[in-house]
Amino acid sequence: GKGAAMVTAVAYRLVSQRKQVDEALAPFKLTKDQLCEVKKRMRTELEHGLKKETHHTASVKMLPTYVYGTPDGTERGKFLALDLGGTNFRVLLVKIRSGLRRSVRMYNKIYAIPLWIMQGTGEELFDHIVQCISDFLDYMGMKGAQLPLGFTFSFPCRQAGIDKGTLVGWTKGFKATDCEGEDVVDLLREAIKRRNEFDLDIVAVVNDTVGTMMTCGYEDPKCEIGLIAGTGSNVCYMEEMRNIELMEGDEGRMCINTEWGAFGDNGCIDDLRTQFDREVDEGSLNPGKQRYEKMTSGMYLGEIVRQILIHLTKQGLLFRGQVSERLKTRGIFETKFLSQIESDGLALLQVRGILQQLGLDSTCDDSIIVKEVCGVISRRAAQLCGAGLAAIVDKIRENRNLDCLEVTVGVDGTLYKLHPHFSRVLQETVKEQAPTCGVTFMLSEDGSGKGAALITAVARRFHSNRQH
Ligand code: GLC
Repeated sequence: GKGAAMVTAVAYRLVSQRKQVDEALAPFKLTKDQLCEVKKRMRTELEHGLKKETHHTASVKMLPTYVYGTPDGTERGKFLALDLGGTNFRVLLVKIRSGLRRSVRMYNKIYAIPLWIMQGTGEELFDHIVQCISDFLDYMGMKGAQLPLGFTFSFPCRQAGIDKGTLVGWTKGFKATDCEGEDVVDLLREAIKRRNEFDLDIVAVVNDTVGTMMTCGYEDPKCEIGLIAGTGSNVCYMEEMRNIELMEGDEGRMCINTEWGAFGDNGCIDDLRTQFDREVDEGSLNPGKQRYEKMTSGMYLGEIVRQILIHLTKQGLLFRGQVSERLKTRGIFETKFLSQIESDGLALLQVRGILQQLGLDSTCDDSIIVKEVCGVISRRAAQLCGAGLAAIVDKIRENRNLDCLEVTVGVDGTLYKLHPHFSRVLQETVKEQAPTCGVTFMLSEDGSGKGAALITAVARRFHSNRQH
């Protein structure tokens, strides 16, 4: 009768709804073979970056860092550190003791960088940074002290020494003018001069991955890789000098900042990218750039989710078919929201609560789909990152002619730290894709600040040894 027909109609709608959601999400579900392919292609790009003939066109830039090894515990002194390029801008004072009373003590203050400064002129940006340093020195009562400074600057820099770094190009949310192609240490020195209030000895410019590796290396000598899975995505690792064709000399090792976020900028992973990835890229500050980063890091995952939700809404599968102004707003799904939505044991009512906080009215059915979309996107991110990392550990293993390698990865970043599943899926993928490597993951406590200070300590020792 009529009732049965209605039940059939409802069931039919549910089945076709499911089918449409599955169709939208299918291209995000990567097979083991696809991940193996990602690992292989990453390996190819790593090699291109290292080789002289291919370096200048390579998308993965493999930048030398002038860091020759991890700390040995003899580092000591008082240092200032700056941390620019992560979720927060911070100024830190770091006190390192060596010997039996080995310890690191830190004091830090977080400063906001308003959007108009991140995307204004370079002069405004660096003046603001120096203004924050000035405030910090006042706050600590240390205006007079001329301390050595380590500058963690988490963007690609071509270095000609530990204290020289030319910005290759802004990434993530920054776009200040007149900085690309300039030495950021000079920009900072000039801004300090302009203010004419205090003097600082800028000793080192450091990528956050390198700071993270050094911080973990201070505790564990097996740590020879630094990974950031946060606002951006990047890795550094200890490479053999003989393989770094841009550097003279064949002895020993140097840390390479891979800048793997740019993996795929030559189109080599375009077969894995979806229509949603392309939309996120096109709406970003740097279209066509950092394609792998845009599939794997906190700044973009929420945007991919949002694009999918818009698509499903337009198909009438979500939010009663109404694309609200809120849903059209860029950046509403920050990492912390994605992490909350995916927390285990969270009742659907709570998911709806979170969506409500974001300004999205949802039904119970909506919240099920939203949670599913978030899960698929963060899982793909962790798997892609894991496949990339598998390429790195296998390269180190081969460099050393080993059948199996034991190595520690120092890790930092909001996505890795806050997300309920990212770290597990990442580790599972590394295990699957690099089965002969024993990889230990070590969370870094404040890698950027501590690491910059440790590098500064090593750099000063190195310089004074050479002078004496
Ligand atoms: C971006 C930057 C890179 C940094 C990473 C993590 O990829 O280009 O230098 O390490 O973000 O912050």
